[in-house]
Amino acid sequence: MKKIFVTGGAGYIGSHVVKALGEAGYEVLTYDNLATGNRWAVLFGDLVVGDLGDRPLLTETLRHFGPDAVMHFAASIEVGESVANPLKYYRNNTLNALQLLEAVRELGIPRFIFSSTAAVYGIPKTIPVSETAPLMPINPYGASKRMSEQLLADLSQAHPDSFRYVALRYFNVAGADAGGRIGQAYRNPTHLITRALKTARGLYPSLQLFGTDYPTPDGTCIRDYIHVDDLAEAHLAALRHLLDGGGSDIFNCGYGHGYSVREVIDLAKNISGVDFLVMEADRRKGDPPALTARSDKIKEVLAWQPQHDNLEFIIRSAWQWEQEMEERLNSRS
Ligand code: UFG
Repeated sequence: MKKIFVTGGAGYIGSHVVKALGEAGYEVLTYDNLATGNRWAVLFGDLVVGDLGDRPLLTETLRHFGPDAVMHFAASIEVGESVANPLKYYRNNTLNALQLLEAVRELGIPRFIFSSTAAVYGIPKTIPVSETAPLMPINPYGASKRMSEQLLADLSQAHPDSFRYVALRYFNVAGADAGGRIGQAYRNPTHLITRALKTARGLYPSLQLFGTDYPTPDGTCIRDYIHVDDLAEAHLAALRHLLDGGGSDIFNCGYGHGYSVREVIDLAKNISGVDFLVMEADRRKGDPPALTARSDKIKEVLAWQPQHDNLEFIIRSAWQWEQEMEERLNSRS
């Protein structure tokens, strides 16, 4: 049984990948400081509560587990916060990736799968954007991830026989486990679909719509929303690629088409049955107008076949999760 070490496995995306790995029969160990993750979200394998900055604990845990591959999810992920607090992003994302890679090299771990982001592209000249487009991030979040990608590229070039990686550039990840076991559970969620659904449930008085004067058909930003279980499957496909001897590579993870913020809000109202209040606000700093993925490469090279390319399905699964989470919280109190 292959062993996979997962940083950030108690977080939103990491926990869905841990679930997929466990269901596929891999042995998993999660390493997470629980800053934004949750113990209950780790459905398979053990959890070591630790910080990536704790080099002795990280190295010892890795040495003891002896993984065949490392998957690195632990990171800070909010565009707006990165503009306000850039050093947090360079520390949590770039510096921690560097330290993790030093430990990985020290122990000779040969495979690495990295959570990158569409934010590395900035404002692409053409969309859907392909993996070969220039990387020109417009916020520290994207810049911090681009630097980590550079570390990986340089490291794999220096040691092509003993270190290979796949970087997956996520577009807008949303939705939740169909079985209602896990989903997004941040303490202060900022992502559109989650904010909209929590507003529908009455947890916020209104939803702010950031920017209505973008050069898009309805003036609001366009994003490529991908279901988290499809993204988890992309990680398993990347892992199989590396285990089968495939080379280092980079793939977009999106469906190739997008929806505007207004379209998402309308559907969220429809699915929840609540006509919640929407307040038009100024543009949020660091937001590109439109970002969608060219996804032919991952389909061809990794044979990835998305199952949930349907915004209604995505929002419905998130809506079910919101209700499930509230029931859990109520049953505890
Ligand atoms: N938005 C609102 N109101 C909200 C929240 C979001 O109008 O309350 C808007 C944003 O301004 C943006 C769109 O909805 O136009 C999507 O915003 P999210 O915060 O949901 O997601 P982002 O597009 O900022 O971030 C996502 C991923 C990143 C990825 C980035 C690329 O989280 O990993 O897309 O831009 F890098």
